[in-house]
Amino acid sequence: MAPKPTVLLTEPAYPEVVGLLDRHTNLTVGNRGHYNSEDALIEGLKGMDGLLCMLSNPVTAKVIESTDTLKVIANYAVGYNNIDVDAASRRQIPVGNTPDVLTETTAEGTFALMLAVARRISESERDLRDGNFDGWAPNAWLGFDLSGRTLGILGMGRIGQALARKARAFGMEVIYHNRNRLPDDVEISLGATFVPTVQELARNCDVLSLNCPLNEETRHIINGGIFKLMKKDAILINAARGPVVDEAALADALNKRLIWGAGLDVYEHEPEIHPGLLTAPNTVLLPHITSATFETRRKMGMLAAGAVLNVLCGLDMPCNFVNR
Ligand code: GLV
Ligand code: GLV
Repeated sequence: MAPKPTVLLTEPAYPEVVGLLDRHTNLTVGNRGHYNSEDALIEGLKGMDGLLCMLSNPVTAKVIESTDTLKVIANYAVGYNNIDVDAASRRQIPVGNTPDVLTETTAEGTFALMLAVARRISESERDLRDGNFDGWAPNAWLGFDLSGRTLGILGMGRIGQALARKARAFGMEVIYHNRNRLPDDVEISLGATFVPTVQELARNCDVLSLNCPLNEETRHIINGGIFKLMKKDAILINAARGPVVDEAALADALNKRLIWGAGLDVYEHEPEIHPGLLTAPNTVLLPHITSATFETRRKMGMLAAGAVLNVLCGLDMPCNFVNR
């Protein structure tokens, strides 16, 4: 019998996923955070046939070119900005990711952030736990309705579209900007209106939600200039990738009250948080959890494992590749 292929899973993952990989491969599971550097990955990939990695692992060209055994890379995430896909393609290494299974979960998580900021959920609960609740008060903790307000979505992929549907159910108007305009029938069924520039989106919405991938076009696309255009009572939501926003400019805008609030799930220098955000008013800060439900994290893991097992063992499992 041929020896089992060797696979590096960079962090402990959903038990069923680890079990599946373990049955079919010679599996190494890394310790939490160990593979967050190029050097650790280069060392860990020696002799490995497959890599199942996290979005915090920098799978750069240098890492990919350091190995001549690697045959597949799978990301435990839909966003794959941590992987140099061109470098992988040059080596004919397929790169897997986890679309679709997390779409509704991520849109729900994004919605939770929107509600939390608009209705000051985190702030007011912290105050109660601090012992300050003294009963109902007409002026306490006033926020904004989402109903009747305009949601601006930057990035109208699967997640943006799922968010648009939820927002319409909440009685919001939806406008969006995307590199490519959606077909008419899709726009109509979503009830979403295209605007041609990010500037126009920023100027005209009450809640600006970022749902685009991180790439050279979108890095810092939300910056000090954009905050100046936004309404004074607008809210920014980022559940995409931290570097889409110039975080220092955001901290400044919040503290100077150029915008009313922000809900963030991702950070420019994750897991570090800009100190100005920690003290900013009306700011909800989540630890990158918008896709974190039991069911979705299991499905994401199975899809990523499916990519590895498809390439290395020929197993016919659901999987998705971004470069093949
Ligand atoms: C999570 O951030 C993902 O990209 O799946
Ligand atoms: C991610 O799956 C997206 O297309 O938004």
